[in-house]
Amino acid sequence: MEIEFPASFLWGAATAAFQIEGAWNQDGKGESIWDRFNHKPYAILNGDNADVACDHYHHMPQDVALMKELGLQTYRFSISWPRILPQGRGFVNEKGLDFYDRLVDNLLTANIIPNATLYHWDLPQALQDLGGWPNRDVTDWYAEYARIMFDRLGDRVSLWSTFNEPWVVAALGYGQGVFAPGIADASQQYQTAHHLLLAHGKALQIFWQGNYNGKIGIVLNTSRQIPASDSEADRAACERARNEELYFFTDGLFYGQYPQELIEWIGPHAPRVEPGDMALIQQPIDFLGVNYYMTFTVSYNAQGGLTKLSLKQVAVDGWTHSSTGFGFNPNGLTDLLLDIKERYNNPAIYITENGVSLAETPQETGFINDPLRIEYLQAHIQAIAKALAAGVDVRGYYVWSLMDNFEWASGYLPRFGLIHVDYASGKRTPKQSAWWYRDLISSCQGAQAR
Ligand code: FCB
Repeated sequence: MEIEFPASFLWGAATAAFQIEGAWNQDGKGESIWDRFNHKPYAILNGDNADVACDHYHHMPQDVALMKELGLQTYRFSISWPRILPQGRGFVNEKGLDFYDRLVDNLLTANIIPNATLYHWDLPQALQDLGGWPNRDVTDWYAEYARIMFDRLGDRVSLWSTFNEPWVVAALGYGQGVFAPGIADASQQYQTAHHLLLAHGKALQIFWQGNYNGKIGIVLNTSRQIPASDSEADRAACERARNEELYFFTDGLFYGQYPQELIEWIGPHAPRVEPGDMALIQQPIDFLGVNYYMTFTVSYNAQGGLTKLSLKQVAVDGWTHSSTGFGFNPNGLTDLLLDIKERYNNPAIYITENGVSLAETPQETGFINDPLRIEYLQAHIQAIAKALAAGVDVRGYYVWSLMDNFEWASGYLPRFGLIHVDYASGKRTPKQSAWWYRDLISSCQGAQAR
């Protein structure tokens, strides 16, 4: 593959605490909303739960050794808030801090840049019992938690993200009830969305005041949305879809205001915003994290819920292979990046997640052939190269995921990993795509050295 990337471009892979760690109630960890949710009958496909998952909590040094073998330059992981603060606030669990301390030290010894996400969906259940994200007090408890982590790891972590995919937390967790904590209430959805951004702002304030070393940003889920037709109804529906999923967050972060059209549309469900909130939200960030998986066409649908629209995935021809129905549309990524560049004056971007789940199985020899994943990753990396050539400031790329893991409500069925995990034995086996990625990284480094 002929691609030009800047010498400083970082290549990595990503995971999240709840999806890989296991050890859900060990060494003083408190219960999270996902622990509670995934123990509920029928909440998760096949009754799966993440009590053990990849047992990364006990395999961490071995997992970092594998990352090193694959030549990863950076690793994006998340910190489990209830492992640090079992009740969400107050008592600090030293054993939890110690785990992330050791993780970061192992990464640095392996020459891998740590990229730590403070919140990848696992709110301490004790705080949900107090109302969860719709309760404004949670924003202060989050900021305290962030301070504890900055103090503990700030000397060694060079990339921080405050939140992973706040839209998913708000919409799927509180608006639709598909994800933990399983609440379906539009008012709670938008109040949560606002509070997540407010909590982000409060953590940023602590970060800037504390003069910590690293860089800090936030990770958003972004899909590319295009109108299904030229009709005014479809174009307006598409704008609503973009406002809802992305611009609510990015306009808040970069312009300190929410899209007025959406606020009017949702009417009584609009969040309560207090004086000073938007200024906190609009503080500068060092980078925007972009998670990209798919492209949709959007059409007006009078029966289409609060936002009255329908989404249909569009995949490029021939790409129909994902086991979870995640789409393949690399052009959508280029277009999305160009849109963000134009709308927000070319912010620094990391592609913090991109990848595909496939149903490959190990061969008798143990080798795992996953040519479609290679094709997928290659096409998306090329899409990024195109965006770079058009002046978009992309600084790095993380494959979702380092290893197969617990895919939320879909349990263990989807396998997104570069590394195969046998859940019964815990055995890790890099797939063919992992070796392909290793070679890509080393050829880019070679090119940079010339
Ligand atoms: C993203 C999540 C990540 C993983 C991938 C497939 O929305 O951030 O945890 O589930 O999707």
